[in-house]
Amino acid sequence: MAAIGVGLIGWGTVGCGMIQTLHDNARVIENRLGVPLRLVKVADLDLERTRPVHVSEELLTTNVSEVLDDREIHVVVELMGGLGAARTLILQALERGKHVVTANKALLAHHGNELFEAARKNKRTIAFEASVGGGIPIIKSLREGLAGNQIDTIFGILNGTANYILTRMTEGGLSFDAALGEAKAKGYAEADPTLDIEGMDTAHKLAIVGALSFGTPIHLDQVYVEGISAIDPLDIQFGEEFGYQLKLLAIARHHGGRIEMRVHPTFIPRSHILAGVKDAYNAVHIHGNSVGNIMLYGMGAGMLPTGSAIVADLMDLSRDMLFNLHERIPSLAFLPDRVQEIPIRPISDTVTCYYFRFSAVDRPGVLSRIAGILASYGISVAAVIQKGREIEGGVPIVMLTHEAVESSVRRALEEIDQLDMVLAPTQSIRIEDQDLDSIS
Ligand code: HSE
Repeated sequence: MAAIGVGLIGWGTVGCGMIQTLHDNARVIENRLGVPLRLVKVADLDLERTRPVHVSEELLTTNVSEVLDDREIHVVVELMGGLGAARTLILQALERGKHVVTANKALLAHHGNELFEAARKNKRTIAFEASVGGGIPIIKSLREGLAGNQIDTIFGILNGTANYILTRMTEGGLSFDAALGEAKAKGYAEADPTLDIEGMDTAHKLAIVGALSFGTPIHLDQVYVEGISAIDPLDIQFGEEFGYQLKLLAIARHHGGRIEMRVHPTFIPRSHILAGVKDAYNAVHIHGNSVGNIMLYGMGAGMLPTGSAIVADLMDLSRDMLFNLHERIPSLAFLPDRVQEIPIRPISDTVTCYYFRFSAVDRPGVLSRIAGILASYGISVAAVIQKGREIEGGVPIVMLTHEAVESSVRRALEEIDQLDMVLAPTQSIRIEDQDLDSIS
């Protein structure tokens, strides 16, 4: 092979990052690979939009078939996003004998098991480093670098947009909307930013890395998800008074024969290493029984970081092609016939500490009534402050609890929120500080 032909479908931010990386780093890529990576075609429905990288006119098309049918293209890079059309396109590419690179975590979270099976049947590979953590080589670490480990825990910050928003709200005092506007302008957010702020993008990524870590099929439906759109800046401020910082955390653990996978806003100690992960940076902490604790850190979104991951995949696939190798590393890190279902631990069984903000009338007895209900569900209070300021909806009473079972917390809050003296639904945020100690 004199060159590896690359066809791009979806010329957006990440596509521009790939093209620029191929251009700027052509020499180092060829020195590492032995042959060049050659961009053969770029397909997009909108070729008029102004973009930060230039592509020669003769490479451009609005017709994806020109990519799928081009015999000089060995690898199709799917960056159009979405589910239906992208799924069909990848299946078509595999059937036509092309390898596929994708950053489409939503697609893999929903249809990954089917797509990997199709790739196998066609003796082709789907590479997906860019689907999780932008430029951070998380997939490679789990499938290769940590292959000798039993992985029991993986948690971290997997959405650049949400992390950027929380950072700007915490440090810049920005409103949620202003911070989201900035994240969009910087190209971090998904086409539909609801996926970022409601936690689904993080859930897509957690479903993928959970499967790779534990040797299970990808099960998005097993991931519990809460986003950050209901976060009030007030809670960020109160959390800070207790020494906590708010992050949208993805947590997956394999323990006691069950796995838990959850995504939700989480208070972590300000001294914790993850609290220093700011802006659009992502960080993933992994615990393996041999390696111990490791942490991967880097830009989780953005044009060039994500482009870097796409190019790494192109190079991996190229090496396999050049050496006539196939399925050297299983897609989900475990051999397909060894991937097995593991029972899920429901969110109701989760045990964590909690932050509560009650909005109550300011009169004697309120605090003891609330504490009494919590006690009746076995929930023990660790700290409490009542803020003297009247805000809309009552006086804020902030409480921190010791470890409590989620199902008990929900029942207690339901009862508390029905009290006449409680004027608005209670805000509750989980706190993780016990199990995170090992890397603080
Ligand atoms: N919207 C995603 C994020 C892009 O903000 O992290 C990278 O997957």
